[in-house]
Amino acid sequence: MPITVRPLSYALGAEIQGVDLSQTLSNSEFDQIHRTFLEKGILLFRKQKITREQHIAFSRRFGELDRHDSLPRDRHPDYPELLLVTNIPEEDGKESASKYTGQQWHSDMSFTLEPSLGSLLRGITIPSVGGDTMFTNMYMAYDALSDGMKKMIEPLHGIHTGRRKVLDPNTAREREQSAINPPIAQPLVRVHPETGRKALYVGDKVSCIVDMTPEESKPLLDYLVRHATRPQFVYRHQWQQDDIVMWDNRCTMHIALGDYPEGEIRHLERTTVKGTPSGYYLQ
Ligand code: OGA
Ligand code: MN
Repeated sequence: MPITVRPLSYALGAEIQGVDLSQTLSNSEFDQIHRTFLEKGILLFRKQKITREQHIAFSRRFGELDRHDSLPRDRHPDYPELLLVTNIPEEDGKESASKYTGQQWHSDMSFTLEPSLGSLLRGITIPSVGGDTMFTNMYMAYDALSDGMKKMIEPLHGIHTGRRKVLDPNTAREREQSAINPPIAQPLVRVHPETGRKALYVGDKVSCIVDMTPEESKPLLDYLVRHATRPQFVYRHQWQQDDIVMWDNRCTMHIALGDYPEGEIRHLERTTVKGTPSGYYLQ
């Protein structure tokens, strides 16, 4: 079957049709997918009835997988390469630790020294309506800044934490996250290691700018996130069961909207491809 590519929005994303991810792809098929990934930032594969092993095997084509040591509570007990994004309660009836995963604009693993290259999220149980994810194109966001703003932010670093700025209840999970993942400085502008293009690198997990006060940082960070998430830079994904969505964490951000009926199940599983080193510890 020939591979076809259908754009998902003007800003970013493409659906790849004509592939079966339960099979091993040839090198030329994989090369076409990889090129589309670099060009479009997001890939969607629909109707992929695949196993956990097949999800992991396809993800490995893109690089070494993270075993989620920095998110130990959220990984699958038998498959450390799989991160659970689920609202299914724990066995003891407690709320799932990953119920609110991703409910702020972010790029995966930005709070580590090896931020992710890309993530592949598989939709396993999808609510009857909603549970959408939005993505934004951080190349476009960077390119649309004025020359003055580009110059000003070029040398700056943001402080990334694993904490959730928006929700941030003082739960055991949040305290554990802070202890495992001390704050890290990341450049506000990153050069994509494969395309060489500059992309904005901010988000709701950035608490402050290095060498600035919180009061000085906040208006600039708020502006950059608001700018980067303008509707024309965004694609909103409406999940179907057996979707695989892959995104490039080096040039996109995403957010889980949590817009689905209380009481319905939403269960997804993610692999995380490791990226190149970036950032430094503050202490
Ligand atoms: C993630 C994430 C968003 C969602 O898996 O990294 O942010 O909509 N998920 O579940
Ligand atoms: Mn995420």
